[in-house]
Amino acid sequence: MHDLQAPLVGRRRVARDAFVLGFRAGPIAREVRAGQFVNVLLRPGPLLRRPFSVHRTEGEIVELVLRAVGEGTGRLLELREGDRVGLLGPLGRGFALDPSAGRVTLVSGGLGVAPMPMAARQARAMGLHVCWVHGARTAADLCSEWEGDEICWATEDGSRGVRGTALEAVPEPAGQVLACGPLPMLAALARRWPEAQVAVETVMGCGTGVCLGCAVPLTSGVYTRACTEGPVYRAGAVAWERLPAPAHAGWET
Ligand SMILES: Cc1cc2nc3c(=O)[nH]c(=O)nc-3n(C[C@H](O)[C@H](O)[C@H](O)COP(=O)(O)OP(=O)(O)OC[C@H]3O[C@@H](n4cnc5c(N)ncnc54)[C@H](O)[C@@H]3O)c2cc1C
Ligand code: FES
Repeated sequence: MHDLQAPLVGRRRVARDAFVLGFRAGPIAREVRAGQFVNVLLRPGPLLRRPFSVHRTEGEIVELVLRAVGEGTGRLLELREGDRVGLLGPLGRGFALDPSAGRVTLVSGGLGVAPMPMAARQARAMGLHVCWVHGARTAADLCSEWEGDEICWATEDGSRGVRGTALEAVPEPAGQVLACGPLPMLAALARRWPEAQVAVETVMGCGTGVCLGCAVPLTSGVYTRACTEGPVYRAGAVAWERLPAPAHAGWET
């Protein structure tokens, strides 16, 4: 794990109000795996670090995707090139790809695209065929960038692709399923593909296993820490009805 001061080196818009920010953080870029996250410290800014999935790496650059929802994300989007943030990571347990699956389907709802470019690249490097299924409320909210061999779109208003959530647009056979998105979408996905791996959002404090602020209840009755045992879980292992949703509807939408 590294704790770096990382300068902002790039920014681009990828959907309505959603931006990819690139930070130079070579040691993290070299180690991070799909589904892992970094904890971002802003000065001046909120007291606590804010967790973000690593979206993509390009050489020494670590990319994050976000939209302004509060103080931390608002401050991040006000940064100018050269401004530095504290980056702690890589953190958490990412996706475990199955090289024997032949095919992997990435299912993302809204900003649930966050961990998918890395997952697509890792899967292709293993020789897997990658189908990415991406859904959002409306066409303007769909992420304009994707990676893999094929893409399927879904929008709730039918303005692009299948009308409905990303789940409705998944072609069968899906092969190995990896997903990230709003909790109701992940809970529905767990009923259809209990073996899927899902990246789950929780409230987080320290991000390093100390504060117990990120508890995820499992169907076995035990609680785990999303920041260390997660944030990626087997979908069927999570007690979705007992998972406390963050105060908002989900960062992914
Ligand atoms: C493992 C993990 C990975 C994550 N990866 C990403 C990512 O890749 N991209 C990303 O954008 N976010 C991601 N998040 C969520 C991100 O950490 C929060 O959006 C962020 O902490 C919000 O901080 P803030 O200071 O802007 O908002 P706060 O000031 O903490 O919150 C202000 C208000 O906004 C609400 N709020 C907070 N977050 C959201 C949200 N996302 N949508 C709507 N309302 C919200 C709060 O409930 C509160 O009412 C991730 C979270 C976890 C746990
Ligand atoms: S955020 Fe502190 S233990 Fe997970």
